[in-house]
Amino acid sequence: PGGKLARTPPMGFNDWAGFECNSQMNEKLFTDTADQIVKLGLDKLGYNYVNIDDCWMQHDRDAAGNLQVDAARFPHGMKWLGDYIHGKGLKFGTYEDAGYKTCQGAAGSYGHFQADANLYASWGIDYLKLDYCYQPMDAFPGKTASQVAQIVYHQASEALLNTGRPMVFSESAPAYVCCTGSDFTDELAWLPNEGQLWRFGSDIYDAWPSVLQNYGEANTPGLPAHGGPGHWNDADMLEIGNGGMTTTEYQSQFTLWAEMASPLLLSTNLAKLSAEQLAVVTNPDVIAVDQDKLGVQGSIVQSGNGYDVLSRPLSGGDVAVVLFNKGDTAQTITTTGQAVGLTTGAPFALKDLVTKRTTASDGIISANVAPHGTAMYRISRHAQKNTEPSVAVTVSSPAP
Ligand code: GLA
Ligand code: GLA
Repeated sequence: PGGKLARTPPMGFNDWAGFECNSQMNEKLFTDTADQIVKLGLDKLGYNYVNIDDCWMQHDRDAAGNLQVDAARFPHGMKWLGDYIHGKGLKFGTYEDAGYKTCQGAAGSYGHFQADANLYASWGIDYLKLDYCYQPMDAFPGKTASQVAQIVYHQASEALLNTGRPMVFSESAPAYVCCTGSDFTDELAWLPNEGQLWRFGSDIYDAWPSVLQNYGEANTPGLPAHGGPGHWNDADMLEIGNGGMTTTEYQSQFTLWAEMASPLLLSTNLAKLSAEQLAVVTNPDVIAVDQDKLGVQGSIVQSGNGYDVLSRPLSGGDVAVVLFNKGDTAQTITTTGQAVGLTTGAPFALKDLVTKRTTASDGIISANVAPHGTAMYRISRHAQKNTEPSVAVTVSSPAP
C-alpha cells in the first residue's frame, strides 16, 4: 500500500511460470537471476523486482506460529537473499496466500497477517504477491466470496502499512472470486484502495492459447478503465524464453502486455534467452509504452475477422496502436487515425516500434500481419523529419 508505489507497472522477474516448484526453484535461481539482470542491463530498462513465488516456505508454522523458510531451497535464509538482491541495486519480492494455505499447500497467511508482514519487513521485502487459494469463507458466515476477499485483503494491506516499509501489494483475489467487468465495478472497487495491482484472469502457461485467453480476459468489457498509475490490471507473467511459442508469438505477448499496461515480469532462465528473445524483452520503445506515465491501459477500438486493433493514449499526445492478428493465416489489418482516437489533422508519423521504420500517413494505418503476430506503432500527430512520404503504410511482419 502507499500512494507513491508502482506509478508505472512493475517490471522484473517472478519464477512461477518458468519453474513452479521444480528442483531449480531455489536460492541459486534468484541469485543467478539478479546477476543476469545486471549483466544483461535489464535493470537499466526498468526490470528491478526479483520476486519469489510459492514453495519458499514449509508446510507448517513453528510452535510460536512463525512461517518457516524451506531451508533445503534457501539455505542462507531470506534476509541473506534480500541483501544479495539489494546489493545488486534490485528489489526483492515474495509470495503468500490470504487464505489457510498457499495454492501448493504450504502455510497460508490468514490469521497471521501482521506477524508475516513484520517478517517480510525484517527481510527487506519490497513487493508481496498475496494469492487466494484456501479462502477463509467459514470465518465469515453469510458473506459473499468478494466480501470475504475485501475483508482479508484489507487486513493484509493494513498489516503491510503498519510495518512502515513500503511494499508493493499484488492482489490475486479477483482471479478467484469473480469476474465480469461489472463485478469489478460493483464488488471489487476496493482493490485499488488496498494494493497496486491485481490478477484478474487465468494462470498463464507457455502456449499460444494461454496468451489469447489472458489477453481476452484483460479486455473484459469495463475492465481496462480500472487500470492506471498505482492500480494495474495484471495479465500474468511473461513466458518469453520458456520454449513453447515462436518468436512472433512471444513478441505478441510482449507487445500486447505493454499496450495493456500490464506488469512485465519475466519468468525464465535469463541466461538462456536467445538473441531474438532478448531483443523482444529489451526493446526500449515497447517498454516505454508499457511504462508511459499517463498510465492509461490500452483497449480494443476495432475488431474484425480474427483481428483486433488496440489504442493507448500516451503522455505528450502520442498514441500507441497495435494491429493484432489472432488468426492462423496472415492478413492485412487496416484502421484509421480517427478510429484510434487521433483527431483529424493528418498527416501524422507512424513509428513501427519493432522495425524502427518511421513513415508518414494521411490517415490510414495498415499492415500485413503474420499469424499470431502484432504490429505496434507509436503515432505522433505531426509528421516528423526522416519519415518516408507514403500515404498508406504496409509493413510485413516476419513469418513465425
Ligand atoms: C496460483 C497463482 C500462480 C502461482 C501459483 C502458486 O495458481 O495464480 O500465479 O502463484 O498459485 O502455487
Ligand atoms: C522450462 C522448464 C523449467 C525451466 C525453464 C527455464 O519451463 O520446465 O524447469 O528450466 O524452462 O526457461
